[in-house]
This record gives sequence, structure tokens and C-alpha cells, in this order.
Amino acid sequence: MNVVLGVGGGIAAYKAAELVRLLQERGFSVQVVMTLAAQEFVRPLTFAALTGKKVITELFASEGGEQVLASAVEHIRVAEEHEMMVVAPATADLLARFAHGLANDFLTTLYLAFTGPVVLAPAMNTHMWLHPATQANVRLLRERGHTVMEPEEGPLACGMTGPGRLPEPQRIAAVVHALAGKQRDLEGETVLVTAGPTEEPIDPVRFISNRSSGKMGYALAQAAAARGARVILVSGPVNLIEPYGVRVVRVRTALEMRKAVLEHLEEATIIVKAAAVADYHVARVPEHKIKKTAMRLSLELEPTPDILAEVGQKKGDRLLIGFAAETENLVAEARRKLESKNCDMVVANLVGPEETGFGADENEVTLVMRTGEVVRLPRASKLEVAGAIFDHAVRLRLALHAAQ
Ligand code: CTP
Repeated sequence: MNVVLGVGGGIAAYKAAELVRLLQERGFSVQVVMTLAAQEFVRPLTFAALTGKKVITELFASEGGEQVLASAVEHIRVAEEHEMMVVAPATADLLARFAHGLANDFLTTLYLAFTGPVVLAPAMNTHMWLHPATQANVRLLRERGHTVMEPEEGPLACGMTGPGRLPEPQRIAAVVHALAGKQRDLEGETVLVTAGPTEEPIDPVRFISNRSSGKMGYALAQAAAARGARVILVSGPVNLIEPYGVRVVRVRTALEMRKAVLEHLEEATIIVKAAAVADYHVARVPEHKIKKTAMRLSLELEPTPDILAEVGQKKGDRLLIGFAAETENLVAEARRKLESKNCDMVVANLVGPEETGFGADENEVTLVMRTGEVVRLPRASKLEVAGAIFDHAVRLRLALHAAQ
């Protein structure tokens, strides 16, 4: 796959050289485009030597003292010849120019002419990153379907400590890999994903819910779409941007989620139940707000239907992936759920550690398979974990078919 790598003008520009190497190791062919500011930090020759290709540095080339358009359609040619665009480091200025469609150099002109997936790895001072202008631009770019990575936290070149460091090249390469859909191995599949918590009303103004952010389910939907699947995402109430190219069905309660899942079950070939469904709901929800009194108040809860178990009964030869959030006995509990709910795979994670639990951007999970195989995945971003889950799902299905 051909990737065009835009290098912006930041101190982290030198790290783009490492990224080139990592992308090449993963089989990508890389064409580098540098902004004028980037050339203040790294010489184009570095990238030319690494890629064996001339680095594109300007929209206009000088010829005999006269400025001529490098090639009137060069940016169109580069846009057409590359399947993915990656920008690292993406400066605040570049994010702003991309967001607002300015096209005053080669990279920004190329961006407008480019129709494939875009990955942006920002790097800048913490205040610049957190500035409402930058955050608004990031939101715009994400709404447009681009992957804007979160910068890492740590000491910055400017002396501050906070978010703003370029994500490690390893992580950028992994995200590119996850989104590249290199094999398009989910083409022809319909993947049904559930995500987020459910909200169970207590009265018209109160509800019971849980700490699920929906990030894992949304990452799964994004990864499946990137690999060519048609994706239906049944989502509980979350505060996330809808993944590009995914059909989102919004629900609130466990009962609504069950209805939406059963409605789309027929067309699904792979079902991933990442949602944290409430196990109980209030038996009788009063029509009016419950008033405070000096008395104790008891709520009578009744079990909600177990959607995963029900799908397990009806699944036929669909691949069914459940989740298990546990505080102890991870693998044993996951196995028990795999058997009792008739899943093909259970993705188990220990809840508790802040950095990999609910709401976190990273996850560390263990996959328990119907074949008896247990795979512990390394801690990584939820998008990378989602990619690894589908890698194993594809393999597992082949193994299950071979065993039939
Ligand atoms: N699940 C579901 N419907 C429910 C409850 C859970 O579909 N009413 C699904 C979740 O989407 C998840 C899996 O079941 O894929 C496991 O959820 P978890 O809360 O870990 O397990 P429970 O079955 O609720 O078991 P326990 O409370 O004993 O851990």
C-alpha cells in the first residue's frame, strides 16, 4: 500500500524518519511531503535517503529564475497514487489549515485533493493543543472521518509537561496498519457491534447506568469499517463522534438495545457485544418524579434479558464475540461466559486499573477462544486492540470451519 507522509514543522519532525522506517517494515511504500517549516528542522535529504524517492517540498518549482508550477497536476497525481495520508507531526497550524480547507502549499493542496483515509498525529505545546481553537479544529477533522490521534503526555521541548508530545512512531505505525485494511479481509461481512452503557430509568429524571465510555465498541466499529465490512453500531448513550462510514443505531435501555440487536441479527455475519448492558432495571418506573421524604427508599430491580445469551441461542454459524469485565479470575470467568452464552470468543479485561478500564484510551485484554486457545494481547490503544481482535476473529473462523 502506498502512503503519503506529510511532515509538519515541529521539533518532533525528526521522529518522522523513524516512522518512515516502521511503515516500510510493515510493507508500506512511503512518499514524503514536507512543509517549508519542516525543512527548518530536518533536511529533505534524510527522507529521500530513507525512501529512495524525491521528497516533495513545494507547490512551485523555480526554473531558470522563474517560478513555475512544479507540475500543474502534481498534487492530483500524488493524491491518486496513494491510498492513505498520514501527517506527523501535525502542527496546530496544519490542523487549522486542514480543518478550514486552506490550500497554500503542497501538503494542504494535496489534502484537499485526497479522498482516502487520513491519520493525523499532532505535536505541539500543551496550551496550543488545549486551546479552544485547536480543539474545535480537531473536532471538525474527526467529524470529517479523519483519525486525529491524541498527543502523548510528558515533558515537552518548550519545558512544559502535559499533552502535546508526538505519539510514539510505533503507535502511529500501528494505527496506520489498523486503518489500512491491508487485506480488506472483512469485505462482504456485516459486523454488528454494540457499545457503551445502557441507562435504566428510575423515574422521569433519574437513571441507573455504569462507567462504560463506549470507546472500545466505537474502535471496533471503526476498525471493522476500515477492513471493508459493512458495520452497524448499536450504541448506548455516549459522548463520542460517530465513526466514519458506520451506521449508528442509538438506544438507551437494555430492552431497546435487545430490540435493535435482534432487528439486525439476520443480516449480521459477525456480532461483537462490547456494550456494558445493565443487568437489572427498575421493575416499575413511576410516571412522575420520586419526591424526597424522611423515609428509606427501596427500588425493586428485576433482571434485564441477557442479550448476548439470547444471540448465542440464535446465532447459527455467525461468529459471536462477547466481552467480560472482571475484577478477579479473568480467564476462568471468561470461559464460563463463553460456554454459558455460546460465544466463539470472549474478550476479557480486568476492570479497576484506571489506564485500561472504563473511559481509558488504552486497553489490555485476554482473548478466550472456543478452540481453547487463550491469547493475552499487549496493552495498546483501543483501536490497535480492536484490530488485533479482528485478526484473531478471522483466524478463529477459519479454524472453526476447518474443524466442522
Ligand atoms: N450482556 C448482554 N446483556 C446483558 C448483560 C450482559 O448482552 N443483560 C453482555 C455484554 O454485552 C458482554 C457480556 O454479556 O458482552 C458480559 O457482560 P458482563 O457484565 O461481564 O457479564 P454478565 O453476564 O453480566 O455476568 P456477571 O455480572 O456475572 O459478571
